[in-house]
Amino acid sequence: MSTSEQKTIYLKDYTVPEFLISKTELHFDLSADKTLVNSRLNIYRNPDCKKTNPDLVLMGEELTLIDLKVDGERLHPEHYTLDDKTLTIHNPSARFVLEISNHINPSTNTALSGLYKSNTMLCTQCEAEGFRRITWFLDRPDVMSIFSVTMVADKDEYPVLLSNGNRTGSPNIALADNKHAARWHDPFPKPSYLFALVAGDLACLKDSFTTCSGREVALEVYVEEHDLDKTSHAMQSLKNAMRWDEQAFGREYDLDIYMIVAVSHFNMGAMENKGLNIFNTKYVLASEKTATDADFENVEAVIGHEYFHNWSGNRVTCRDWFQLSLKEGFTVFRDQQFTAHQTSEAVKRIKDVNMLRTHQFAEDAGPLSHPIRPSSFVEINNFYTLTIYEKGAEVVRMLHTLLGETGFRKGCDLYFERYDGQAVTTEDFVTALEDANNANFEQFKQWYSQAGTPTVTVTTSYNQNEKTYTVSFEQHNNSPSTQADKEPLVIPIRLGLLDDNGKELNLHGEQTSTVLELTKAEQSFTFTDINTEPTPSILRGFSAPIKLQQTLSIEQKIHLFQHDKDAFNRWEAGQNCLSYFIFKTIDAIQNHHKVPPLPDELVGTFRAILQQPLADLAYQSLLLSLPSKAYLAEQMSTIDIDALYQAHRIVKQTLASSLQDLWLAHYHANHHVGAGTDSQSIAQRSFKNLCLDYLMALETDEVRSMCIQQFETARNMTDQIAALAELSHLDTSINVSYFDAFYQQWKNEDLVIDKWFALQACSETTDALHSVKKLTQHPDFDMKTPNRVRSVIGAFATANPLHFNAIDGSGYEFVADNILLLDSINPQVAARLANSLSHWKKFDSTRQQLIKAQLSRIQAHTPLSKDVSEIVSRSLT
Ligand code: PHE
Ligand code: ZN
Repeated sequence: MSTSEQKTIYLKDYTVPEFLISKTELHFDLSADKTLVNSRLNIYRNPDCKKTNPDLVLMGEELTLIDLKVDGERLHPEHYTLDDKTLTIHNPSARFVLEISNHINPSTNTALSGLYKSNTMLCTQCEAEGFRRITWFLDRPDVMSIFSVTMVADKDEYPVLLSNGNRTGSPNIALADNKHAARWHDPFPKPSYLFALVAGDLACLKDSFTTCSGREVALEVYVEEHDLDKTSHAMQSLKNAMRWDEQAFGREYDLDIYMIVAVSHFNMGAMENKGLNIFNTKYVLASEKTATDADFENVEAVIGHEYFHNWSGNRVTCRDWFQLSLKEGFTVFRDQQFTAHQTSEAVKRIKDVNMLRTHQFAEDAGPLSHPIRPSSFVEINNFYTLTIYEKGAEVVRMLHTLLGETGFRKGCDLYFERYDGQAVTTEDFVTALEDANNANFEQFKQWYSQAGTPTVTVTTSYNQNEKTYTVSFEQHNNSPSTQADKEPLVIPIRLGLLDDNGKELNLHGEQTSTVLELTKAEQSFTFTDINTEPTPSILRGFSAPIKLQQTLSIEQKIHLFQHDKDAFNRWEAGQNCLSYFIFKTIDAIQNHHKVPPLPDELVGTFRAILQQPLADLAYQSLLLSLPSKAYLAEQMSTIDIDALYQAHRIVKQTLASSLQDLWLAHYHANHHVGAGTDSQSIAQRSFKNLCLDYLMALETDEVRSMCIQQFETARNMTDQIAALAELSHLDTSINVSYFDAFYQQWKNEDLVIDKWFALQACSETTDALHSVKKLTQHPDFDMKTPNRVRSVIGAFATANPLHFNAIDGSGYEFVADNILLLDSINPQVAARLANSLSHWKKFDSTRQQLIKAQLSRIQAHTPLSKDVSEIVSRSLT
């Protein structure tokens, strides 16, 4: 047990709040070292609360109390108690006004929770429990209040003063001492986690949006002056998101103004504060020179995500933090649909499934596994996980699949209408979908409480005489940390059947694809009028977040790779073929056997795909990509990093050399696309850079010069980074000059320098750890800037498995050292880094001991935040 207190909070202990706050008036006198907060709260006893605790207990941390009044009278010290986490008012009346004055210090707030300083601006982050670091409050999401805010600050230092809602009164009122004031009022009741304010000397891009009912909304994107030239994509993305939410979900925006502020110091991606989103600069700023095509796509997705929260999260919010997936799973599903609509449905689905299966499946197979609605936690900040977000979105997607587009939409409409202005549960969400469709999701709800990735095994049989084809399923949930009494889940399985010519068979009338609803541990489905034995295409579109076990011959896999009409399963079939050979190669390496050759037919299929450009070139690039080493690692029971790297390289080299002429021809055919962020140019760049990646595996001087040439003449960041990424794996003595040149070119662009750090941290060269250690000493490295920490230590720990898992333990030790250094600065980011040490069970016993030794060393350290303490103790179980 560590020294820091580890109080576990349980869902079963939830009780309604004893007091509520109808009105919250906040007055800020802002300055970086000492901000004065005056709050005036209209508090009353909750008539729905059965408990009769006479006292009011408010939450507050790192605050200095100045004054306390009840109904205008200063409170005598015997009528309240103060400790480092709470302020208790003894026996207040049923309804009263509480006035609190306190000081806070934004400039020493390196945890970046509450009010903090980022460069020269002041900003807030309140989710999940940051508001209590601003003033004492009932800082829980089921206490919703109407907020009015007055901000006073120096006119020159903080000319821009922003908070939630609409501006009230005249624009910034001049005051004495070179100060000015701004007032904001938010008419929608909200929990304190959605409160925000920003003060700074900021530049602004302005635009407007006319909603479906004809209201005009002012749109404002605020950034530091030197970044103003990188805001137009964010603005366009916001307008796209607003229009899409009207069209796809019938959701209209509700305030007169929508603001986005980009800050350089941010623990997460972005935050959906009502009307005033605060973003990590990484998800706002984009210009072709400084941002890659992937960055552009991420900006649009995150802007969409935060915008969609206005309904799924803000208008309808969470009752308690166990319900986090109510807003996050649903909103991720919504942003996925948005990106699919803006880009390519197939490509978006493949990318999301790749991420889910590589990282969420790994999380769910390890000691940190938890259901999308957890039943307990120590530190809520540790539950902003891939499971809550990504698996949460998959669960919403299954409901969408089961109800169909129209039924799902009817359910969402009812959900928003019924619960508008309320704080609700995942159960309420499912109930709304049931009620609108007369459906019963009782059994489906298991998905919310069961952890782990289910495995579904498929067997098929064809009856020649009866002309019937039977598909049988068995489901198992063998997650390490789930309850013994697991019930079978409802698993929607989308399926199609192909004949020998690759034609789709009709299953029910005209339909060639159908959704089977698996509800039992074992279940069979029989199709009739099937004239010859078909090839099954199962789990189309990845219709459920499961591991599918199916024994297809290599010929059947290739058949699907060539003909499957379902874009996801066609890609999946190709990945299965390649994975199969990579695993066979690993086996050969481990047993010192001869490496198996790639079958001609597989190479031939690759050739055919390369020769026949598809309409969706981005999809074509994915069809031709190798499964990632991280994805393959997740599927190995014991990860053998060295064999995995070798095998991956061998298969890549085989494809590179067998199809060399085609890779080269396509490289040149697509290389002329310099600029342009239209989908065709983006797709051409991704295809071209895939060709470069294969060609580089040939290790010829010719290809290397081509890569260097691309690096030196690139007119956009996508091409420059793709080339530098290739060069980063060459010997340090060779690549150092390119890294130096890149640094000189971009040293004034923080987000580009993050890439520069990350590429070096991910290098496969033998002295990578030595370089990474040197990077932490670089003048541009800063432990107080989460993006920097993530681009050096985070990148090394999560994206450089070769050196992180070095057999002498040096990688683990380096990461553990930095977790401890960071813990006293920013526990949330430190805890996230500590996640990288949780996968020890996947390694050989030597590495297991090495990782556990580092976990124990961290655990024994004092002081230790409860964030890191929770992660390391759970990881050790
Ligand atoms: N709620 C944010 C989102 O997903 C994430 C976040 C959580 C940001 C906690 C900051 C702090 O959109
Ligand atoms: Zn979110």
